[in-house]
Amino acid sequence: MRYIGAGGSPKVGDTSTLKPDNFTVSLIYKETGKYAACHSHEIEESFLIINGALIVGWERDGEVVEVNLGPKDMILNAREIGHGFRVDGPEPVLMSISVDVGKPLPPVYHYHPKEHPTELARTFGAQPGKTLKFDPKGEHHLQQLMSKYVVRHSELETHWEDAGFTRKIYCGPGGVETDTCRKEMLGIPSRVGVKAFSRDVEDAFLVLDGALTVGWEENGETVEVELGPRDLVKTPAGRKHWFKNNGAEAATVWYIVGSAEPESVTFEAA
Ligand SMILES: [Fe+2]
Repeated sequence: MRYIGAGGSPKVGDTSTLKPDNFTVSLIYKETGKYAACHSHEIEESFLIINGALIVGWERDGEVVEVNLGPKDMILNAREIGHGFRVDGPEPVLMSISVDVGKPLPPVYHYHPKEHPTELARTFGAQPGKTLKFDPKGEHHLQQLMSKYVVRHSELETHWEDAGFTRKIYCGPGGVETDTCRKEMLGIPSRVGVKAFSRDVEDAFLVLDGALTVGWEENGETVEVELGPRDLVKTPAGRKHWFKNNGAEAATVWYIVGSAEPESVTFEAA
């Protein structure tokens, strides 16, 4: 399902989605046993796992490093790196994919099953015996490269904002180094909200758990919408907006900002 833009797939020009500025957002569901063949993009692309376990492989010269990601883990696929994914676990995978440019070029396939044996496509192009496990302390150059781009939710520091909610920094200053977009996971307790703020780039809230009310403000008039799991609001650059959790349970929200510049907003409790 596409929320913002057409993503890094061949389906560019889809007009049924929100118009992208600096990033695209989509939701992907993959059944057990399915895979996506090794390909690359001119720009960075993140996979945020929502449910299930996903194997992501990075390939270079017939060698592959595979990492196993669980719920709320993320990988930012580096520019031009061959990457693919596979579901080997017993449950299907739900994940959110963002390409960090509004209108990405079509992906370049490296080991497409139409041109290569299925077994080679399933292993992302690894020659026999040339698949390595992800290891942040590993000596292989692909292991070392990948370790800069893998984020485990359980290992991330939790930052408490004075406004009363938490942030875990996935991409941007304090997280994976990037020059495109910031990506964070917000934890918003029941009844916590912030006063209106605006940015010089767009941002987007994708609710993972709980409920979040997002409001827009213009000339003293407001409009608001309550989001549930898998709902998204994109707010354009310059628009005053705010959020509040009106529910009883805490909300977990995937938050994308269309710039990698350090945070410019000081959140104030509403
Ligand atoms: Fe990709």
